[in-house]
Order: sequence, then C-alpha cells, then structure tokens
Amino acid sequence: MANNSMLFLAGLMGSGKSSVGKILASRLGWTYLDTDLIIESNTGNSIPEIFDKEGESGFRTHETEAIRNLDTVTRGIVSLGGGALERPENREAIRQMGTLVWLDVSPGVASKRLARSRNRPLIAEADSVAEIENRLGTLLNERKANYQTADVVLNPGTKSPQAIAKTIMDELGLSGPSHTPREISQVPDSPYPVFVDHGVLPQMPPLLEDSRLSSHAVLITDTRVEPLYRDQVETTLSEAGFTVHPRTIPPGEQSKSLATLGELYDFYAEQGLDRRSPVIALGGGVVGDLAGFFAASYLRGIPLVHVPTTLLAQVDSSIGGKVGVNLTAGKNLVGAFYNPLAVCIDVNTLGSLPEREWQTGLGEVIKYGFIGNREIYEILQSGRGKVREHILEIIRWSVQQKLGIVTRDFREGNVRRFLNFGHTLGHALEKVTKYQVLNHGEAVYWGMAAALYLSFKTDHLSKKKYRDALEVMDKMRFSLPPFRVDPEEVKAAAAYDKKRIRDTIHWVLLEDIGKPVIETDVGESLILEAIEFAREFTG
Ligand SMILES: NC(=O)c1ccc[n+]([C@@H]2O[C@H](COP(=O)([O-])OP(=O)(O)OC[C@H]3O[C@@H](n4cnc5c(N)ncnc54)[C@H](O)[C@@H]3O)[C@@H](O)[C@H]2O)c1
Repeated sequence: MANNSMLFLAGLMGSGKSSVGKILASRLGWTYLDTDLIIESNTGNSIPEIFDKEGESGFRTHETEAIRNLDTVTRGIVSLGGGALERPENREAIRQMGTLVWLDVSPGVASKRLARSRNRPLIAEADSVAEIENRLGTLLNERKANYQTADVVLNPGTKSPQAIAKTIMDELGLSGPSHTPREISQVPDSPYPVFVDHGVLPQMPPLLEDSRLSSHAVLITDTRVEPLYRDQVETTLSEAGFTVHPRTIPPGEQSKSLATLGELYDFYAEQGLDRRSPVIALGGGVVGDLAGFFAASYLRGIPLVHVPTTLLAQVDSSIGGKVGVNLTAGKNLVGAFYNPLAVCIDVNTLGSLPEREWQTGLGEVIKYGFIGNREIYEILQSGRGKVREHILEIIRWSVQQKLGIVTRDFREGNVRRFLNFGHTLGHALEKVTKYQVLNHGEAVYWGMAAALYLSFKTDHLSKKKYRDALEVMDKMRFSLPPFRVDPEEVKAAAAYDKKRIRDTIHWVLLEDIGKPVIETDVGESLILEAIEFAREFTG
C-alpha cells in the first residue's frame, strides 16, 4: 500500500470520481483537485478544444505535466482523467505521491450517467446510451490492466457517492477532518492571523469561528480559479451557514481596473450586504488587490479574507495590507493600506499553478533568501527541486519575514523598503517592456541580478559573497522570454517615479547575504553597467 498523504481516484469517465472526490475532500478537510479542470484552466481551452487542436497525444502531454506538478500537494484528493494511467510515467508519479483508488464502475452504469455529457471527446461520436456503453466497454478493455495496478479497487455498483466515500475512508483507515490548519503565530503583535497549511480551503478556520461576521459572504475570484476551487470554498462557507454571493472576473492585470471595481460596487449594492459581510478574495494578486480594495472602500470598509492561490500572492501580495487598482496612467495608483481579517493560504492550490506563474512567485522567494531568511537561502542553494519539496516551510518563512517587516513598518519606511530588493530596476524593466513581455517575478529576477552587481561594485558585498549569490541565481535560473531594451530607457524609467514625488532612488543593496542596506549614491554609469550585466546574466 502506498502512502496516505494523497488519494488519487481513477476510473472510466462517468464513474463518479468528482462527486466522490469532493465529498471525501470535505469530510477529511483535504483539498480537492481535478486534473482535467487543471488542464482546462492552464490552457484556457476546454478538453474537446484541446483534442481538436492538439489531438489526444497533445492532451496526454498536458495531463502528464498536470500530474507531475502535483508534487507540492499533501492532503489532496485528486480526480484523474479516465486515461491518465495509460502513460507509465504518470503511474510512477502517482505511486510516489499517494494511494491510487480505482472506482470499478461498469460501462452500463457509467453510460447512463454520461448520456447527456457533451464534454467527452472519446465518446463524442456515440449517439445513444447503448453506443456510449459499447464505447466505454472498449475503453475499459484497453485500460483495465492499468486500473488494476491501483492500491484499492472498489466496485461501487449503484451506491451513492456518500456511501462510496465512506467505504474508501473505512478501507484506508481515514477519518476526518484529519488536521487543524496551522497558524503562523511567531510574529509578535501580528495584526491578523495567517493560516499556512496543506488543506485550508475545506476549513477556512477564522471565518467559521468569527461571530462578528454577518451571514452574507462575498466571494470574488477569476475565471481560471473559479472551476478549480470555487465550489470547494462555497461548500465550506455554506456548511458554516453563510449565504454566498459569488462574482467572477476575467483573469489578468486588466481586471485590476476602476471599471471592474465599479461593476463590483454595482453588483454588490443589489445583494443586501452589511458592514459585517466578509469579502473572500480567492485567487492571485490581481483578485487580492481588487477584491481587497473593494472591501476597503465599500460601505467605508467591510471585513476582508485573503485566500491567495498563486505563489506570488501567498508569499507576497496577500501579506502587508496593500490593496488597489491600476489607472491608465500607471499601476497601483489608486489604493489603500487595509489589513485583512485573516489570510488563509492553502499550499495545495499551487498544485494547479502553471510553471510560469510558479516562476513569478519564485522571484519573491529568492528575494526573501537574499534579504534575510537564512533557511530559505540554504534551500535555494540546493536547487529548484528542493524549493518544491520544502514549499510549505518556504511559504511560512516568507510570510513571517514579510509580516515581521510590515508589522514594524506599515507605511513604507526604511525597513519596508528592504522588500524592494531587485524591484527598482525590475519595475523599470516591466514598465519599459509595457508589462507585455515579462511578468513581475521575472522582472524582479532580472532586477536582482542588477542589484547584486551594484552591491559588489559599490563595495557593499565581498567578491566571495557576490559569487555565492550569483550561484544561487544560477541554480534558480529563470527562462525569460526574449526582449530588447535600451539601458538608458530602463535607467530613466527607474528615476521617473521618484522624480514625481521629489525623492531620490533608494537602492536596496546587500552588504552580506541576509543583510540589506539602503544606498542613495549610485552613479549613472554604474546603473548602466548593472543593466548590461543583468542583460548578459539572464540572456
Ligand atoms: N498588494 C501587494 O502588496 C502586492 C504585492 C505584489 C504584487 N501585487 C500585485 O499582484 C498582481 C500579480 O499577482 P499574481 O502574480 O498572483 O497574478 P494573477 O492574480 O494575475 O494570477 C496569475 C494567473 O494565475 C491564475 N491562477 C491563480 N491561482 C491559480 C491556481 N492555483 N492554479 C492555476 N491558475 C491560477 C490566475 O487566474 C491568473 O491567470 C499584480 O497586479 C501586482 O501588482 C500586489
């Protein structure tokens, strides 16, 4: 028998994997994930569209990647696509990660459930229940040998999903909820609790216990996150007695706008909210900033709970109380400092994160390693694989570090400035490339290469430490999309914002690993050299 840190449900389409999986997740307090939904969310295409554009083998490649990326999940219930066990590398990855359960439902039972489904390319040609049954029979014959490799084989017949879930729990000796999400409590005077754990979504601890909240909850998410996690959060809230008012926005930076904010105000004005209605921001930094500013401003402020689902949002944007939207004139120009009631970080949501979004968050993690967190730095020295292996601890340390800094310095004094390591030129690069080429973390990675060069050239950082730091950057190596920039333009962009507020650039440099320092005296030619260096280093 494999380990019980994750359960994978396999079986023919129509065997009830999703219904059973959701019930299991809710009873155990584990996170529910579905590889087909992950593939749809990551590609932005439905399964039939992927089959049309890339054929079955293209789909299978996405599936293998989706399964491989689940290596950061613990306490997860994963519903697998019907053909997921066909590839040996998938079977091996699943065996390494958890226990495999086969729901051995007959083609006769499954075909009746599928009769009205239009989302299944492998039975798309079948017009009647009999034809679907026939097609499923063929698929079962082809796949049976691989299904039989499961640790647990269940023949559920026509039992209800609830009964099947109970049988699985009994069979594996599982009872739930199996854990209480852990709160980061080591930060003195922390203004709000932050829960960081595997399996937080099905519990949402502070909400369910806070008697000051009214029973109408706002749930804001985006269209990529919605199919993955909205059901789960909504079920948790509904079971706790909340009436949930959901609203889904398009994904991406363009939603962080006054227009989308206006739509939220109009929509929620009709929903009968009051001053104690909590806003649940479920998604990445865009949802967090937008829903956060909505919460900060609607009825002059209603409670906010961040439920960040990207690595960037978990280690950075959900912590610190900054919320806001963009204007055409620039990013984050309208906003507020507004502390949430709580932050609920379910690390398992990273199991569905595309590689590029993972890289975005990694930029901030590397920053924490450089500006102060020894433990993170040591893991970074061991390479990217170790970062995934230790992601729970890394997120906890990152949160503690940011929380520690912003608690001391809520409104951007010197200490909070340390968080800008790599950001001065990173932001400038984002701006010069019009936010179209690089995402934030990629630009920060580039900016950190430049900041390390400046740290060395201004005699703050010794040659040895400089080399060590570059080695870490190399181990984390980002694959950046190709871009061309004029160094003069990047330098000018870095100076522009500061000129507007009659300030000088506060360069955050390092005098040692873990020891940032503010430097205001950096010559123009050295800045150009640093930009050239970053270009070569990341090229
Ligand atoms: N408030 C702050 O202190 C602060 C700090 C840093 C950045 N930010 C802001 O954060 C924003 C960037 O945040 P981001 O990088 O999270 O971008 P994002 O919110 O746009 O998310 C990136 C993409 O990942 C998708 N996604 C989210 N969670 C997912 C999941 N678990 N699985 C699969 N897909 C998922 C989203 O739908 C989106 O398409 C920027 O607007 C930036 O200004 C704010």
